[in-house]
Amino acid sequence: MENNKIKIGIIGLGTVGTGVFKTLQSFDNIEIVKIAVRNKNKKRNIENLDENLITDNPYEVVNDPSIQIVAELIGGTEPAFDLIKTAISNGKHIVTANKELLAKHGEELFNFAEANNKVILYEAAIAGGIPLIMPIKTILAGNKINKIKAILNGTTNYILTKMDVQNASYEDVLKEAQQLGYAETDPTGDVEGYDAAYKITTLATIAFKKRIKFANVYREGITKIRPEDMKAANEMGYKIKLIASAELDEAGNADVRVHPMLVPKSKTLAHIDYVTNAVTLSGHPVGEVTLSGPGAGEFPTASSVVGDILAIVSEIGKTDYLLPMMRCNHHENATPVNISDTKNKYYLSICSKNSLGVIGRIGQACEANNISLASIVQKEVEGSYADITVITELCREQDMQKFIDTINNDAAITKVNSLIRVQV
Ligand code: HSE
Repeated sequence: MENNKIKIGIIGLGTVGTGVFKTLQSFDNIEIVKIAVRNKNKKRNIENLDENLITDNPYEVVNDPSIQIVAELIGGTEPAFDLIKTAISNGKHIVTANKELLAKHGEELFNFAEANNKVILYEAAIAGGIPLIMPIKTILAGNKINKIKAILNGTTNYILTKMDVQNASYEDVLKEAQQLGYAETDPTGDVEGYDAAYKITTLATIAFKKRIKFANVYREGITKIRPEDMKAANEMGYKIKLIASAELDEAGNADVRVHPMLVPKSKTLAHIDYVTNAVTLSGHPVGEVTLSGPGAGEFPTASSVVGDILAIVSEIGKTDYLLPMMRCNHHENATPVNISDTKNKYYLSICSKNSLGVIGRIGQACEANNISLASIVQKEVEGSYADITVITELCREQDMQKFIDTINNDAAITKVNSLIRVQV
């Protein structure tokens, strides 16, 4: 006999899907009626898993007329994009953890959902278990948020923390992280900053109420960070973190990027270590708010997915227009700011020959490119090379690039080892 439970379909039974399945077991107003998996024969460590629910055809989930909510937990753009559109066409609401899909196709999906009077919720797509989207859309709705600084990737934060505490190289820590399962066999998505760039694209779109295009987000990863940079940063009062940053000016120009930064130890983000994520939002009237917590993992991510499912469940059958505050309410594009037009403070590590007048020439190249130095340190020279550490005041990115060209072409300079932006 048909019961009154809300019927859920799950696509994907990996780490997140497993956590969602287990968590939903304690809600007796919800029934999971179908679960799509890639490999039906895979042995799964899940109690109470009825094999009759399992299919290896995800279209059986999105085409099942009894299902009211589909949880898409497979990631990637295809087939997730088509599955979600098909599910919406078939009258289902969507909960997704798919950051890449939202960053690349969010606009089309949200418009499609709206045209079909369905909702797409995605709390789990950005910073796993940290409640962010719902707070921004509801209790912070009265704010004009104009700045986000965030650690949105646990893998890179783990690697940078380990490099810092163990004085170890990127390569050694990556290998160890892979052995422990903290980093993927192909770590590109995390270490080159793609994962954080997907997340900040959607997060900034929601917080600024203006669309940000993923293609306009500047991105640099952590692979060039050296233990020497970690040590120098520490001595000068900073920690090196992969920061996802977004700033919106009064005219609607959005500067959105992901790159390593020297973060002053006085800031909360400098103390967010290992796999923890954190997001600092600045706006009026609230001021500055930092939310931190687990950015990934079976149960933290399930917490967000299940919260979204329950939000939809609480309104199904009671209204024809569910969750109005959670819907897409911005249609204007932000004007992108190119990184070369930005102003930044920089940390530079320069290796020079131990020869007469090097510091003077660095000073001249700075002056010629409108760069003012905040500090310059050369430790006692050992042998024929000198390491010179420079922190600049705010200056233009394009001037900095010209300065580096000048310095790299100076016969006395061996090379610029590192250039890392500094949070002001
Ligand atoms: N790969 C991500 C991270 C977790 O390392 O934070 C999933 O978004």
